Amino acid sequence: MARKKIALIGGGQIGGVLAQLIAIRQLGDVVLFDIVEGLPQGKSLDIVEASRVDGFDVSIKGTNDYKDLDGSDLVIITAGLPRKPGMSRDDLLTVNAKIMKSVAENVKQYAENAIVIVISNPLDAMVTLFQKVSGFPSHRVIGQAGVLDSSRFATFISWELGVSVKDVNAMVLGGHGDTMVPIVRYANVNGIPVMELLERKYKDAAKAKEVMAAMVKRTKMAGGEVVELLKTGSAFYSPASSAIAMAEAILYDEKRIMPTCAFLQGEFGVNGYYVGVPTILGAKGVENVIEFSLDDEEQAALDNSVNAVKGLVADMERLGF
Ligand code: APR
Repeated sequence: MARKKIALIGGGQIGGVLAQLIAIRQLGDVVLFDIVEGLPQGKSLDIVEASRVDGFDVSIKGTNDYKDLDGSDLVIITAGLPRKPGMSRDDLLTVNAKIMKSVAENVKQYAENAIVIVISNPLDAMVTLFQKVSGFPSHRVIGQAGVLDSSRFATFISWELGVSVKDVNAMVLGGHGDTMVPIVRYANVNGIPVMELLERKYKDAAKAKEVMAAMVKRTKMAGGEVVELLKTGSAFYSPASSAIAMAEAILYDEKRIMPTCAFLQGEFGVNGYYVGVPTILGAKGVENVIEFSLDDEEQAALDNSVNAVKGLVADMERLGF
């Protein structure tokens, strides 16, 4: 079987980690594209020179020429400017929309059959814009947000309960902003509800709720927490790992259920917008959206998050995108 070709658009912090993870896992040959001359070439050379040590054997090519995307099976986009301290994801809208538009035009021209994972922020708007400009079928254009947000939620739960994070299942839906919706009711440790474990730990239902509320809040603000600490740039290891999990589900046709930013056509009462929901990821991209019933509180939180996404998309349209 021919090796897959994976194009990374954006050779910055996330792009570099993506390239290294793809190489180490031998997921395919990599083309690392950036507009900055020398940057993708230098990172590619640096990564590939570890191939003897790490024991991988794939090609990694750095480029400033979109022609090198030709025939890519998968494209992962991180092009754009990252958030700076004090800057909201929405502030990035204008500058990153301009970048995303040109990226979409070029991916359409050179990699028309690719499945596309968008990471650039503000995520919900960027994935919407990519699909609109490229005209790709919506199941082939997917946003990465929920896998990371859910992993952050699971991490905090595992610390709180003192259990391995491997046994924690927790899902975050909605937009990739402060309105995201961690689903508390179904958060569990090997099937045991997290709320029950918290109540047993604290022997006090009110205290358990308070502890969960703090974890929910931290999850929603987790991107900003990293930004404040780093001071220059935003999270990059965990977004890269999250996109790689999605890439593996697609490349290996795993049919994994992952929360991704997917185009909804009536599911969860949403029509015509990209929103974070549980999806089945396989060789075709988003192969299905998994619906489940939400209680009133969850539905209200999701509606609120969807409204934020709609506002973002409306802003982008008003700005001419
Ligand atoms: N085409 C391709 N690459 C571009 C373009 C463009 N038109 N414009 C900018 N870039 C490149 C930059 O040169 C830079 O190398 O995108 C790269 C972005 O890398 P970083 O600034 O290091 O940002 P990173 O941390 O990788 O985050 C990328 O993902 O999580 C989001 O908010 C984050 O939107 C940001 C994106």
